[in-house]
Amino acid sequence: ERQKHIRNFSIVAHIDHGKSTISDRILEATHTVTEREMQDQLLDTMDLERERGITIKMNAVEVHYQAKNGETYIFHLVDTPGHVDFSYEVSRSLAAADGAILVVDAAQGVEAQTLANVYLAIENDLEILPVINKIDLPAADPEAVRTEIEDVIGIDASEAVLASAKKGIGIPELLEQIVTKIPAPIGDLTAPLQALIFDSAYDSYKGVILTVRVKNGIIKAGDKIRFMNSGAEYEVTEVGVNSPHAIKRDYLMAGDIGYVAASIKNIRDARPGDTITNVQRPAEEALPGYQPMTPMVYSGLYPTDNSKYNDLREALEKLQLNDASLEFEPETSQALGFGFRTGFLGLLHMDVIQERLEREFDMELITTAPSVTYHAYLADGEMIEVDNPSEMPDAGKIKSIEEPYVYAQIIVPNDYVGAVMELAQRKRGEFDTMDYLDTTRVNVKYHIPLSEIIFDFFDKLKSSTRGYASLDYEIEGYRQSDLIKIDVLLNGDKVDALSFIVHKDFAQERGRIITAKLKQIIPRRNFEIPVQAAVGAKIISRSTIKAYRKDVTSKIHTGDPDRRAKLLDKQKKGKKRMKSVGTVDVPQEAFMAVLKAE
Ligand code: GTP
Repeated sequence: ERQKHIRNFSIVAHIDHGKSTISDRILEATHTVTEREMQDQLLDTMDLERERGITIKMNAVEVHYQAKNGETYIFHLVDTPGHVDFSYEVSRSLAAADGAILVVDAAQGVEAQTLANVYLAIENDLEILPVINKIDLPAADPEAVRTEIEDVIGIDASEAVLASAKKGIGIPELLEQIVTKIPAPIGDLTAPLQALIFDSAYDSYKGVILTVRVKNGIIKAGDKIRFMNSGAEYEVTEVGVNSPHAIKRDYLMAGDIGYVAASIKNIRDARPGDTITNVQRPAEEALPGYQPMTPMVYSGLYPTDNSKYNDLREALEKLQLNDASLEFEPETSQALGFGFRTGFLGLLHMDVIQERLEREFDMELITTAPSVTYHAYLADGEMIEVDNPSEMPDAGKIKSIEEPYVYAQIIVPNDYVGAVMELAQRKRGEFDTMDYLDTTRVNVKYHIPLSEIIFDFFDKLKSSTRGYASLDYEIEGYRQSDLIKIDVLLNGDKVDALSFIVHKDFAQERGRIITAKLKQIIPRRNFEIPVQAAVGAKIISRSTIKAYRKDVTSKIHTGDPDRRAKLLDKQKKGKKRMKSVGTVDVPQEAFMAVLKAE
């Protein structure tokens, strides 16, 4: 009976179309939070999310809604991120839901991630409720967007809710549609327990806290549970829901979304995608989990202080629990010492991980420039995967190199098609097709090397289309390319962490840029430091960091000791995120300099 009154849904959209604001309105309209507690983007609980105004993590909350028919419904709402780098969060949350609210901006219409996310929802067989948001904007054209949703996505939008999350318009109608259109969960309360873990987080008091969707059966405190893939067994200490604060419950049953704590200390025991069952009465099989995510880029993470290596490993393990798309393994660098080669879904993801490690785990890190994974074919036909440029074998030993390509879809107004094509061409793109979405906008499709997309493609795309273009891409495979490795030498010594791989045609230019950039970034010493870029043994460009004779503190030797201490302290702070490589101090910025194409 209670099950009939449950609705599980996820909210998906292109970035900035208003998902988080709609979630806020739903929390308000259902009195889940008091007016005093209410704040914008309530579900974006991380400081980082609030500061940047983006959703990084999904969040599941329970709200209670009294419908027009007089009955009370339990909604489990999952807010999801919009950015491509976090699409893994979206796909995991969709697997836990029965329906999806698709938010489309009334002024912008269907964008690249609208398509990507709606296809994920369709793949998961979810009922889709379109919502046309921001109808208050002067540029809003809800009827055109309605037609576009029908033509481009191919779903019925005749009853799409017209909303302004900002002004609170359309929210009552949306709540009613959730009740009438999204199906109640099906699942057998009396069957053996099967609960899908779709997210997790580490809590220093309760251990690993799992977010689950119970598909069959019941789970309660005291139950002995088993993780069907890892085989680990634990006793449940607490179950409950977030509303939005944690509220303990006596049990969670088939159809519920909630949290489970079981004093889990070993992070590897309970990975998202695993199924929980009951030890006394186990289910026969695990639920289908998630496809593991393949990282798009890899970079090296090194503690600035070598003695913090184990702390970094622990921090990465804990973070991995909260970010199922994070991957890492140990690596060593001659220049940087012991660290981890870490896989990310994109540069924003990399940035977020680095910042979370610094904020939540108090780590001080050096990150090396991100690289895609290359396939190097040796003369004897053997293929090696290279995700660290310094490990690329010498040119003489390699027969050919392949690099990953993506299939990119760029949605843009007609007027900017020329600019998009010019950019894609410059980034070694190969034109595929172009579809008209309506009379004013097109979807331009290209095959482009992933490495070009990852670096500055998106920024360039935005600036050359005055912000009007949106981009989505997926890996399509490997193609052979004319690639070479460029090594960087500081004071005559090769610095492995600065090596990078480029297309032959850009080698000369990129060599020149990197030596010029490093000259600006690396602090002077009291001797001259030559900076060289080399292909094999051949130096292709060079700059020189002039010697610096003055010691900042020497002048105030006789001065006030307090001032001297302060100055030294300031110098030390400035040195943060710096690594001594031989006799040269290399700041963090230097490792990212290869990303700067001009
Ligand atoms: P991500 O979480 O980063 O993917 O974005 P989002 O889709 O959650 O968008 P969010 O709710 O953060 O809204 C993006 C911006 O649009 C914010 O500045 C909101 O204030 C604004 N916004 C949301 N809804 C409306 C609306 O109905 N009208 C207007 N004018 N602005 C809105």
